[in-house]
Amino acid sequence: MKTILITGANRGLGLAHVRTFASRGIHVFATARVLDESIELTQLATLYAGLVDVLQYDAADSEAPSRLKSIVGDTPLDLLFCNAGVMGEGGQSLGSIDVLGILNIVRINSLAPLKLVEALTDNVACSKRKLVAFQSSLMGSIGDNGSGGRYGYRISKCALNMVAKGVANDLKSRGVISVALHPGWVKTRMGGQQAPLTLEQSVTGQQQILDRLSLKDSGRFFNYDGKELPW
Ligand SMILES: NC(=O)c1ccc[n+]([C@@H]2O[C@H](COP(=O)([O-])OP(=O)(O)OC[C@H]3O[C@@H](n4cnc5c(N)ncnc54)[C@H](OP(=O)(O)O)[C@@H]3O)[C@@H](O)[C@H]2O)c1
Repeated sequence: MKTILITGANRGLGLAHVRTFASRGIHVFATARVLDESIELTQLATLYAGLVDVLQYDAADSEAPSRLKSIVGDTPLDLLFCNAGVMGEGGQSLGSIDVLGILNIVRINSLAPLKLVEALTDNVACSKRKLVAFQSSLMGSIGDNGSGGRYGYRISKCALNMVAKGVANDLKSRGVISVALHPGWVKTRMGGQQAPLTLEQSVTGQQQILDRLSLKDSGRFFNYDGKELPW
């Protein structure tokens, strides 16, 4: 891989991916919602000057995909990694469902990645690896759901899984591979400190998967350890 673009790169899994990709000599467009507050990412961009470019991107801003496209231009993107996501606040339990709150989670977690792919399809399709990865969650799996609750987050990741499958079908003729990924339960602000996996374990596993994906894997859902997951 020569160049990738990853969203939600100022902290958590996104930042750890940038660090690892850059250490492998891969050029990264790393996006952050609030540049002034992205201190670790900015330090990484200084450390890897010329290899890490920090770009502003807010998934809630409908103009954001076209702005990114105008900056990236015709640069081939070997990987477009839609990683940014929110868990959402309350109003996600049966008995207290907050419709507008859930629609906002769906907008950020499911529709924003779809619009981003739409804007950058040509960049991916003209690259060597032609990969699109969606940072999903096992919580979006219908087959795995044994506990209910968290309706907003679950619906949004389930919808994101459908996006991953649809993009796989729509872009197959252009040789693009599209997958949904589950990073495992990882120690981040979202995952919490009680999570069993370190960032390094998850990111190493995810990059190993990304390195070996081929067209036969497109439209599938993978755990960080390479195991295929049920939709
Ligand atoms: N950690 C886990 O156990 C786990 C498990 C399954 C799936 N995931 C998924 O992994 C991805 C990364 O999560 P994480 O664990 O690294 O959580 P995190 O530390 O909370 O990071 C979330 C990232 O998403 C960004 N983001 C949130 N809203 C955004 C918006 N409107 N526009 C652009 N960026 C936005 C955040 O930026 P700001 O700092 O600006 O808010 C941050 O960079 C998410 O999609 C999450 O659903 C995580």
